[in-house]
Amino acid sequence: MEQPTLPQEPQHEYETAVYVYQSNVDEDVLLTGLDQTYLLLANKIYILGSDYEPASLSTLTCATNGGKTVELETRTAQALYEMLQEMEADGVSDLAVTSGYRSYSYQVSLNNYYLNLEASGISADAYRHFGAAYIKTNYTDKGLSALSAKDAEAVVRSYSAEPGKSEHQTGLCIDFVTSTAGLTEAFENTEAFAWLSENAYKFGFILRYPKGKEGVTGYTYEPWHYRFVGREAATDIYYRGLTLEEYLGASQT
Ligand code: DAL
Ligand code: ZN
Repeated sequence: MEQPTLPQEPQHEYETAVYVYQSNVDEDVLLTGLDQTYLLLANKIYILGSDYEPASLSTLTCATNGGKTVELETRTAQALYEMLQEMEADGVSDLAVTSGYRSYSYQVSLNNYYLNLEASGISADAYRHFGAAYIKTNYTDKGLSALSAKDAEAVVRSYSAEPGKSEHQTGLCIDFVTSTAGLTEAFENTEAFAWLSENAYKFGFILRYPKGKEGVTGYTYEPWHYRFVGREAATDIYYRGLTLEEYLGASQT
């Protein structure tokens, strides 16, 4: 589907917000004004071609999970560094990147991995997705200890995108972990999450899959997944409590 058109420039009081930074932030990289490149929508309806790649990718030089190699779209990486510098100046340093840009072919492997995983048993995600009553009636009461392929796919679709439908293919988003929390809701209890909740928008990042917006984004709550849209759009999205879909007035999943 064709990308939604750019929204109007925000006309709100907070548009002129002056941020007081503790560190030497380079505000130029945080993007003033709206830019289609950074408002690219990738979801279950707005699908990227298998050959889509970000125009420019950089290998991250900040902390990554286990020191692995992670790439991000270049400006997104720079904005991330500005944000991490400020976070550290505020005394929060337990945070590492575990995922950034993912190619179409990598997403193919990831999707297959999750499909096999969900079909090999009944995970906590399966209980969350279907509810205990459904699992009892359809599986445990029948002595079955693994989901059908169809049910496994439904569970995977609640938390992981099919190839072409993942925002990670844009290189504009980040999955974070800390030393105590991985890609689970426990991330919500970290100091880093508290800091990001209050400050990420000042650096152009939004929480992409908020709690209570599953029906709009198509995915369960992901406190660890942040998306770069530029400071102008992020501030508007933050203050209005929107998802990217709502902000762009895009058809919803
Ligand atoms: N976990 C997000 C939705 C993805 O797979 O891109
Ligand atoms: Zn993610």
